[in-house]
Amino acid sequence: MNTKYRRAIIGGNWKMNLLPSEIKAYVKKLLPNLPPTRDCEVIICPSFISLGQTISALRGTGVAVAAQNVSEFPSGAYTGEVSAPQLSDIGATHVIVGHSERRIYFGEKDLTVNRKVLTVLEHGMRPIVCIGESGAIRDAGAAEELVSFQLKTALHGVAPQKMRRVAIAYEPVWAIGTGKTATAQQAGDMCAMIRTSIRKIYGARIARSVSILYGGSMNGDNAPELLAQPDIDGGLIGGASLKVEDFCRIISAAIEESAKIYKE
Ligand code: 13P
Repeated sequence: MNTKYRRAIIGGNWKMNLLPSEIKAYVKKLLPNLPPTRDCEVIICPSFISLGQTISALRGTGVAVAAQNVSEFPSGAYTGEVSAPQLSDIGATHVIVGHSERRIYFGEKDLTVNRKVLTVLEHGMRPIVCIGESGAIRDAGAAEELVSFQLKTALHGVAPQKMRRVAIAYEPVWAIGTGKTATAQQAGDMCAMIRTSIRKIYGARIARSVSILYGGSMNGDNAPELLAQPDIDGGLIGGASLKVEDFCRIISAAIEESAKIYKE
């Protein structure tokens, strides 16, 4: 993590977990346990159905709220979809785009991910763009190639001045929900490669300002080692974000790591 140029971000992706009736209790427990977060942006990502309620409960606390998905279309006859203007209207500030679960289970393609990134930016929100390889692709030695392709395609047409509002999440599919975390070296190397790819497109100044997160079985125990990697600026947390204590341990690890860099 290098917070001289970019912000630490810890996001809790609740996926399709927690009932709307459970949100109040979660927030009530989170707020007094939340470490002072000036040095780390904390983002909660609930299901659409709980989004408005979570935004109201966290208003004024400094904790941001993200949607887990968005339609690529701004409005119209798209039954069951939720648009970027609708999300922005209720106060969502971030949107997860291209999560591997959307790619794998709902057939989301790279070009759709790109259109979603563009619409999120156009409507004043910040995309958290997820990229990452499957175990089979890694075994075939093609992980870097695929991740670099996913990155370039997702960012196609994103103007340089908008890149400050983009975060990238490297989430190797084989590490998501499996308890099998990437080693700090594996995750750090891929995040460094991602930053190099951004540098090739946008130049060094923009590349060093983009926060790159790691996601995949991150927890309170492995967070310090992962966040100590120079190109890992935070985490997107699934399972461990559902329990307030575990989530807060990861946030504390990010704050500690960013404080270390400040002292240097
Ligand atoms: P887990 O932390 O449950 O592996 O999920 C990671 C993830 O997919 C975050 O978006």
